[in-house]
Amino acid sequence: MIEDIEEVLYSQEALAQRVSELGAAITDHYKQAVDDGEEVVAVCVLRGATIFAADLVRAIDLPVVMDFMAVSSYGSAAKSSGEIAIQKDLVESIEGKHVLIIEDIIDTGLTLAHLVALLETRNPASVHVVALMRKDLPGQPELPLLGEGFPCPDAFVVGYGLDYAEHYRNLPYIGVLKPEIYS
Ligand code: PRP
Repeated sequence: MIEDIEEVLYSQEALAQRVSELGAAITDHYKQAVDDGEEVVAVCVLRGATIFAADLVRAIDLPVVMDFMAVSSYGSAAKSSGEIAIQKDLVESIEGKHVLIIEDIIDTGLTLAHLVALLETRNPASVHVVALMRKDLPGQPELPLLGEGFPCPDAFVVGYGLDYAEHYRNLPYIGVLKPEIYS
């Protein structure tokens, strides 16, 4: 795999450091609610967020329930359609609970905007988002962000959960894919 990577963008060490900072901030945010007996549900959005979520929940020093959703945003096209289809829904009810959506990347932001709106219809105590990376694009919708890990450059990035055609998710770092791989 490594021969397909043009440069390492965020090393294993940088990822671990940022995840631990995000975990500490999330712990601070929910501490009072948990002390008051309220529940926090970490919703991992399959499949890209799995590795980030696995590390992040272990950096949160509070009891959290984990649940999973699969939504399709891009389909086979290269751009977000603005609609999401739920391929796998949550197992648990989120009514009265604090929901933390864990995503790998905010590109147009449309997937998350739809997901937040959908989950808000289920009467949770709150809905927030933590994303590993965000592309700096104009026109992104307002999102209830509790944290974001790193800026995402306008390049094809893979690793630490992010894929190209389902490959490279298990690279332990985030790297830029060589253009000749996808062009
Ligand atoms: C990616 C990513 C987000 C979405 C972001 O998912 O994980 O869900 O696209 O795009 P947006 O901000 O433009 O809506 P993808 O459909 O590639 O699935 P994956 O998580 O399984 O890789």
